[in-house]
Amino acid sequence: MQKQLRVLLLGSGGREHAIAHSILKSPLLADLKVYPGNAGFNKDQLLPKGSLDWNDKEKFQAACKGKYDLVVVGPEDPLVAGVSDWMEELGIPCFGPSAYCAQIEGSKDFAKKLMLDAKVPTAQYRTFADFDSSLNYCKGKSLPLVIKADGLAAGKGVTVCLEFVQVEQALKEIFHDKKFGNSGSQVVIEDFLEGEEASIFAICDGEDYILLPAAQDHKRAYDDDEGPNTGGMGAYCPAPIASPNVIEKVKSKVIEPILKQFSQIGKPYKGVLYAGLMIDSKADPFVVEFNCRFGDPETQAVLQLIESDLLELFYNVSTHNLKNNSYIKISSSHSSIVVLAADGYPGDYVKSISIDSTKPKEKDTMIFHAGTKFADDGSIVSSGGRVLGIVSLGDSLKDSIDKTYSFINSFKTDSLFYRKDIGRRAL
Ligand code: AMP
Ligand code: GLY
Repeated sequence: MQKQLRVLLLGSGGREHAIAHSILKSPLLADLKVYPGNAGFNKDQLLPKGSLDWNDKEKFQAACKGKYDLVVVGPEDPLVAGVSDWMEELGIPCFGPSAYCAQIEGSKDFAKKLMLDAKVPTAQYRTFADFDSSLNYCKGKSLPLVIKADGLAAGKGVTVCLEFVQVEQALKEIFHDKKFGNSGSQVVIEDFLEGEEASIFAICDGEDYILLPAAQDHKRAYDDDEGPNTGGMGAYCPAPIASPNVIEKVKSKVIEPILKQFSQIGKPYKGVLYAGLMIDSKADPFVVEFNCRFGDPETQAVLQLIESDLLELFYNVSTHNLKNNSYIKISSSHSSIVVLAADGYPGDYVKSISIDSTKPKEKDTMIFHAGTKFADDGSIVSSGGRVLGIVSLGDSLKDSIDKTYSFINSFKTDSLFYRKDIGRRAL
């Protein structure tokens, strides 16, 4: 492929910084622009504030027309809004599914119905649109139960209820307090799944797909899986729980039936299909959730294992040309990420923390920015809950994790906290 690509990357997290880190190595890249981005990017890569709005199709199309050869979408919101369809209308290839397919993340009820139709293993569930019928249903069930707001809730719409008061509280927040606005107009109530979690990314072009090595996220805020759920405090890849046997089952029982289902209804899936899985004691995978994009922070670890050109892969996926994929090379190394979060996260967190400028000496250790921005004086300060991710590659998982923590120990972490047990279970 000789084409020189002008790329627009959407998103502002560590995931997008890691994607940029990989595609900047590509000889196919002519230019990279990012929106909204963060302080991990060069200032000249960042599009001006307010210059793009994915809630306005006409304005968004006008801002992109003739300017880009590929749009790469990091987060779910622009996909659910329809950015992939809008770009296709302009003839601009887009890495990310259509608004129709993005409902697999945008509506838990849509995802559950799809899984039922495609006979994909997942927890039993019911969907309700009011408090009283939800509560009545729960009274007839045994605990634990999992209560999920149907729509997008930035990863905060799920409550695992061990006691009945938690069921009542979660339903009250959704239906009476309208904590998640319209995203809580319905709830999905699921049976509890036991096992160990893994995140698997299938890269799909509408016809063909490849799986990337499995990762394991750490969703709780504190060590030993204590504390509230977060967007993810760390991850490692590959995750040993996803043995070759598990991977074969994930392909045949999860990914292929879902892709086939989408194709059969004339809506082929293109982009990343993220399967959040619970692997039970018999090594059988059950789907906890699907996402229509890469996971954050898993991606920061997973992408380090792709040795081949990520931009070429994105372009080929976006132009439905994944069939010839012999150029894709996955390394046999191990990688890990530890997230540095602002004190208080995922609740009210400290803002404008000044960021240490120490750079890793070790060539296999990287810093990916997430909630950071340039202050008026040009210095870098925090602007979000998850602030930085420290990633290392290693010959083994232990080597990778040791490098990551060794760098963190040399780094100024005032007003930041991090988990000290990332990967411990796998070690
Ligand atoms: P979700 O946003 O649907 O992935 O849910 C967030 C987290 O809640 C998951 O990563 C799991 O740790 C937990 N969870 C969700 N659904 C279930 C379930 N049915 N059984 C057990 N844990 C669950
Ligand atoms: N790390 C979980 C997610 O990206 O949804």
